[in-house]
Parts: sequence; structure tokens; C-alpha cells
Amino acid sequence: MKIVLGPSSKDLGEKIAELLGVEMVPVDFKTFPDGESYIRLEGKVQNEEAVIVQTTSPPQDSRLIQLAFIADAAKRNGAKKITAVVPYLAYARQDKIFLQGETISIEAVAKMLKAAGIDNLITVNVHQEKALAKFSFPAKNLSAISLLAEHFKKKGLKEAFALAPDKGATYMAEEAKRVLGGECGYLEKHRDRYTGQISFKKKAFGVKRKTVIIYDDIISTGGTIVAAAKILKELGAKKVYAACVHPLLVGEAEKRILEAGVEEVIGTDSIPGPASKVSLAPLIGKELKELKSG
Ligand code: R5P
Repeated sequence: MKIVLGPSSKDLGEKIAELLGVEMVPVDFKTFPDGESYIRLEGKVQNEEAVIVQTTSPPQDSRLIQLAFIADAAKRNGAKKITAVVPYLAYARQDKIFLQGETISIEAVAKMLKAAGIDNLITVNVHQEKALAKFSFPAKNLSAISLLAEHFKKKGLKEAFALAPDKGATYMAEEAKRVLGGECGYLEKHRDRYTGQISFKKKAFGVKRKTVIIYDDIISTGGTIVAAAKILKELGAKKVYAACVHPLLVGEAEKRILEAGVEEVIGTDSIPGPASKVSLAPLIGKELKELKSG
């Protein structure tokens, strides 16, 4: 097995390779003046299982193209199996037709990756697990919530209330509770499909004078966390933290969240940036180890 260092996840790829004690294949890349992508493998993959680590956070489209090009190059250069580790899987939120005339974006992405030569995919806390059913090859979802909860445990936040900002995120609050103890609950969120505006159904939680950690898969504009933090403050929460696997943090999202009274935003290196305080390397490394020996 060799780890191919996709340009969007070079540091994570290096950490995984070091953990596994396997060789890395650097990738030379550039963008031509007209915007087209170029990639070249700077190592051999002949008869190897090539594991490409490449997240597809913004700019999603060029990162997807880079991933497809790397896979194609690996295939042409004799890789016997190609696994793509894509911590943040772009377009997974469009896994069905919501409004007439739309596409199922993730299905189109799955077809493109298959055509590029990818045989196997590993992702982390994909927005909807059922999005992976659109892949015609094995696609596995890992969860990094325990890693986030461990981070809080080390900070001394044992028994903090674990809150899911919507029903779909309940499994995250429950997973965190298994690590930190304490209680958990979820809010009922509604997002207007046209304006994107978020509203919550009022719910009474026993969070008075408690520390609360909100767990979500993605923080994008921060609208969900800001609205949830407001409710928690009204209910008398002492401190509120926000944790997510994929800190997209578009524009001034983090600033808005902190201004809403949240102590800190903790994310993973699924999307590298200032909020990426937890590495996915141990989680992905463990999965690849099983793949290697299996
Ligand atoms: C949606 O259901 C996701 O789980 C996140 O809650 C959402 O993507 C967060 O987006 P934003 O930060 O823009 O509210």
C-alpha cells in the first residue's frame, strides 16, 4: 500500500502514511492560467494498492477533478487497486431530487469517480449515509465524533450536555455521550428550501448552568450553530461549544458563531484550517490497516 498525497489533504495524508509506516507518493499539481488543472504522480504505484487522500472541500469542483486525474494517473501507472480517502465528500447533500428539474449531484460524482478508476471509497461523517448507496463500488462511512468528544474530555469537559442541532444529527450527540457521559438531546430544525433561513421549534432542555457542546457534521455559514446557541443561552446554558467534523466555515461564519457567545469552534482536518484542532489520521489509519491486512 502507498499513500498518494492529494493536494487538498497533503498534511493528513502524510500523518496517515507515518502512522501506517508506508511509503508516500507526492503529487505535483498546478492550475494553468485558463483555470485547468494539472497533476503528475512523483512516485511509483505499479502493482500497489494506491490510497489517494484528497478531501473535496471548496473549491469542490477542482478538487474533484484533481482526484479523478490522480486516480486516472494511478491506473495508467499500473496501480492494482485504487482507494480514495475523501474525508469531506462534496455534493453528498444533494442525494435526491428536492425540486423538479434538479440532478442527483452525488450520483453524478460517483459515476465520474468510477470512470476515473476508483475501486473503493472511504469518507467521514457523510451528511446522509444513504448518499453512499449511489456508488456502484464499495463506499464506507467512518465517524469522527468520538475523536471530537475525546478532545473535549482532555479539556476537562466530562459530562457536558451533547446537543444535536437537528434530528438527523442525534447519532452524533449519542456517540459523544458514550465518551463524555452526561446527557444528550436534539433540536427540531427547519430550513426554508428557498431562502435557507433556519428556525427551531421551541424545546425545553435541562441545560441551565450546564456546559453544552453542539455536534454537527458540517458548519457552513454558521447559521445553524448561531440559532442553536441563541436558544441554549435563553435556556440558561453556562457555556456553549461548537464541534463539527467538516469545518467549512464559509466567509465570516466563525466570527458570527463566536459573537453569538460560543466559546470555541472545534473541527477536524477533514477541511484544513484554523478550526481543525482534531486530526482524522488515527481513524483513517485504523481503517486502512484493516484494509491492508484484510
Ligand atoms: C445540515 O443539515 C447539516 O447537518 C448542517 O447542520 C448544515 O450544513 C450547517 O450549515 P450552516 O452552518 O450553513 O447552518
